[in-house]
Amino acid sequence: MKAIIRVLIVFLLFNALIIPAKLWAQQNVQLTLNLDKADRKVSPMLFGLMTEEINHSYDGGLYAELIRNRTFQDDNQKPVFWQLTDSTSKSAITLDRNEPLNKYLKVSLKFEANKDGTLPGLENLGYWGFPIRAATLYKGSFYAKSIKGGGALRIGLRAKDGKHYYAKTTVHSIGTDWQKYTFELKTAQDITRTAEAVFVITPSQPDTYWFNLVSVFPPTYNNRPNGNRPDIMQLLLEMKPTFLRLPGGNYLEGGNFANRFAWKHTIGPLENRKGHKGTWGYRASDGMGLLEYLEWCEDLHIEPVLAVFAGYTLGGDHLEGDLLTPFIKEALEEIEYVTGDIHTKWGAVRAKNGHPKPFPLHYVEIGNEDFFDRSGSYKQRFAQFYTAIKAKYPALQIISTFGKQFDIAGGTAEIEDEHYYRNAEQMEADATHYDNYDRNGTKVFVGEWATREGSPTTNFNAALGDAAWMTGMERNADIVVMSCYAPLFVNVNPGGMQWESDLIGYNTLNSYGSPSYYAQKMFNTYLGNRVVPIEAKGVPLKAQTLSKKDSIAGKTPNQIPAVFYVATKDTASGAVFLKLVNTIGKSQKVSIQLEGKAKINNTAKTVVLKANSPLDTNSIDDPLNIVPVEKEIKGIKKNFTYTMPPYSIQVVQIQTR
Ligand code: AHR
Repeated sequence: MKAIIRVLIVFLLFNALIIPAKLWAQQNVQLTLNLDKADRKVSPMLFGLMTEEINHSYDGGLYAELIRNRTFQDDNQKPVFWQLTDSTSKSAITLDRNEPLNKYLKVSLKFEANKDGTLPGLENLGYWGFPIRAATLYKGSFYAKSIKGGGALRIGLRAKDGKHYYAKTTVHSIGTDWQKYTFELKTAQDITRTAEAVFVITPSQPDTYWFNLVSVFPPTYNNRPNGNRPDIMQLLLEMKPTFLRLPGGNYLEGGNFANRFAWKHTIGPLENRKGHKGTWGYRASDGMGLLEYLEWCEDLHIEPVLAVFAGYTLGGDHLEGDLLTPFIKEALEEIEYVTGDIHTKWGAVRAKNGHPKPFPLHYVEIGNEDFFDRSGSYKQRFAQFYTAIKAKYPALQIISTFGKQFDIAGGTAEIEDEHYYRNAEQMEADATHYDNYDRNGTKVFVGEWATREGSPTTNFNAALGDAAWMTGMERNADIVVMSCYAPLFVNVNPGGMQWESDLIGYNTLNSYGSPSYYAQKMFNTYLGNRVVPIEAKGVPLKAQTLSKKDSIAGKTPNQIPAVFYVATKDTASGAVFLKLVNTIGKSQKVSIQLEGKAKINNTAKTVVLKANSPLDTNSIDDPLNIVPVEKEIKGIKKNFTYTMPPYSIQVVQIQTR
């Protein structure tokens, strides 16, 4: 037995150390780019964004609302995230279902500020505190009433330790009937940024008060009311995406029918949005509703890829036949809400909600991940939705979430959504995935993909896997018409994450991009409209790590490429973007030959993202540890040599004339 184990250890060491070392020690990688044969078109929507309410993407994330549990529905028993400023006081806060604000917001907060003559305040803990910044205007509102009426409420953003206020104001004369009160809070010039703060409402006289829809917003991107966090929007803008897939993901489906993304409940005044359970373990306020998603697209100058609920929930329930009719109608109305002019029924509703101009829409996806529907009902459900949508909107491209090219009376799915979540080596091993796809077959939307290494956001090894995978999508960007990474966001505060290895992280005050974020930013930014064919020689290989089971079984590891490459050309400017990925810890020389009639400028631009170790990463405390560095290099001609640093992702931008 001992002898077998010894042999096994020697074998594993050989695979882990000796094979890779031998494979790395060899001549230059040789890449020949045929610039005159750049015929394959690059889809103009190749790289986009995917979103859903997960990891506190909206509530406690992009959606800038600061009050947590603003309608008191996050918990059935108690007003979570709310407390009295004095825990010893006999005053009380309770949930009250007998004093609804309206038919949507049926639970109010009852504040009996009179029990023992003390007058404590009511405080909200926010989403892991409040972002207090100097010279900043916070706009707020709430609905309130009291038994006696006439009293004032002092409002403020206060230090968590209770020592001082960052901003305060007073709302006078609270009435005895529900009424909306608004206020503004402005911080001073000289305060230090902090998240260690709470929002406080303190009554001026003993009374019993009720509150609902308590809201505070900091400045938002483009100053949109009910808008988004500017820092996160800036990170997204810099990625130069072309679309936003919304609203999910599993969040579209919900755990059951009642908790699907029911878009009609997410539009109009916030007072009319009851919110819903969400899919990822916390309640969604629906402050980020359908119109807010669309305005988010508008602010990024991109278009939505709209996923419509298709009669299947995560819990496995589904509807067929006539039972689907209301949901098909709901989907058609949703498309009209997005695209209809103000003379259409739902276009008029959108106008009433504040946006008369229709939004552009070219792609509609039917459902999400319906390959999980073991009943096999998707083909039929898809056909019903497809037929109805095409009848009314023949120009829309319809995306199926499962299966290639269904035969449907009158047409077929134009695009199929494929999802890939893997480790870096698996991504690298499969980077040629689309190389042999039928060029005339169903187009592909890689609607969710990610290399899942690193937490909460990805590490550099994930970025290497991502970059390798992106070379494959880009090389095949005639059939891979769209792609988007998932999940996009994570709130890195304790309890903020449900899904590890995300693209962009944030806390209450700050946000940052992972190495994968920067790799995507580079791929999106430096992209031509034609794929340049590349002939490669001398690409080094590395041994793919064996699974425990396979190493015990003594299997030989697969050899996978250690270097990845792709090039595109912008036919208008003559720029050629060569992307190179070196996944190993040794620099690699690349001999590059540019074939074709064009002349080549002597100078090129390089953009390099690299790390000392694959485990290196960015974090909320070290957000810019790994960022792309731009440089100019000289000596570029038809044949030149470029050296890739160890563990690196780079673009070499060559100018042709
Ligand atoms: O991205 C996280 C989840 O992964 C999505 O909600 C779902 O579509 C997929 O399974």
